[in-house]
Amino acid sequence: MRRRGSSFHLKVVEISMTVKIAVLKETRPGELRVAMVPSVIDRLMRLGAQVAIQSGAGDAVKLPDAAFKNATCVVDAAQLVRDADIVLAVQPPAAETVRAMKTGALLISFIYANKEPALVDLLRQKKITCFAMERVPRISRAQTMDALSSQATLAGYYAALLGATHLARIFPRMTTAVGSLRPATVLVMGLGVAGLQALATARRLGAIVEGYDVRPETKGEAASLGARFVDTGVNATGEGGYARELTPEEKSKVAKVLTAHIQQADVIITTASVPGRPAPKLIGKAQVDGMKAGAVIVDLAADGGGNCEYTKPGETIQIGQVTIVAPLNVPSLLGEHASELYAKNLLNLLELLIHDGKIAPDWNDEVLAKTALTGAGSAKRVGVAKPAA
Ligand code: NAI
Repeated sequence: MRRRGSSFHLKVVEISMTVKIAVLKETRPGELRVAMVPSVIDRLMRLGAQVAIQSGAGDAVKLPDAAFKNATCVVDAAQLVRDADIVLAVQPPAAETVRAMKTGALLISFIYANKEPALVDLLRQKKITCFAMERVPRISRAQTMDALSSQATLAGYYAALLGATHLARIFPRMTTAVGSLRPATVLVMGLGVAGLQALATARRLGAIVEGYDVRPETKGEAASLGARFVDTGVNATGEGGYARELTPEEKSKVAKVLTAHIQQADVIITTASVPGRPAPKLIGKAQVDGMKAGAVIVDLAADGGGNCEYTKPGETIQIGQVTIVAPLNVPSLLGEHASELYAKNLLNLLELLIHDGKIAPDWNDEVLAKTALTGAGSAKRVGVAKPAA
């Protein structure tokens, strides 16, 4: 009797302590990633979560519904999120999906509040606690949750490959029976996460690499990857480790030094961005007009308008003899690995949120307080910069 009673008790406890997590299928054009992969679901279950995915969520990365063995599959997004405690996505979800969410539930995805004011209002009305992945602080402890970094790493790698495949030359020095081929010169402008990965990849492919940034600390990082640093004498380190916008005087000082390097490069990869601003223009039309015939620019800042004055976001264009490649949402082009890394970033954040099978965030934790965009926890943001919306 006693045994029966205690096992019954245990069962009740298990049921009441399950956190319901719903994973949405992405609907925005060109978005191929999915917020969850099967191997991470097993780890979520160990946290005390029960996972449901929207049917077809992983199709674009060749993960059919059947691959998500331990998850329930639901066709309709509204039905999926209706009783979910936590909703996971890559891109901001559609308004009708947020409307269908339980009042007070959690949403974790990229949001970029300044581009989504109506959605942010809706999240507030529904009292949704939203963790916006672009807000994860860039501190050592949060590196495992830093989706901006995980996705930028892949984009940087891909940019080097795009440069190599659009160039009618090879990257490495090659000795053949009929003579030697000279290595290509690759200039990377903007040495954040993506830029450093682009530099490392181009170097591994055998190119001579040069790097440039307005944050002087990147000089050592470039050198450690075997790159020459183009020193313009301008220091534009801004808040939180990000760059600030250059003054007109600084821009002309920089342009004078950079022009020679731009015009001798075979491939230029640009990755520069300044938080909350359109992408800075690092390469002017006159500089492109003076570039080597056959040279290639890969503009990774196309989502923010591009780093080159000629860039047409989302297009590959020819300006004279120069090719300008400006793909949008580059991590999505490597959707399989991008989804895997993103899902792991989410898992690490969820480990801060779920304790003993319950959602129990510690709002004194800097990572949670800074990542929260709306809802619970906002009142606790002591000493934390006001959210963007
Ligand atoms: P980002 O995407 O905001 O910008 C890319 C790069 O463009 C940056 O290096 C920036 O300095 C550069 N840039 C901006 N304006 C420029 C201009 N006019 N000319 C040339 N370069 C320009 O940068 P990302 O990759 O998001 O990194 C931002 C900061 O966060 C960096 O300081 C990085 O080291 C830091 N970080 C720290 C982490 C950690 O400690 N956990 C993890 C990831 C990044």
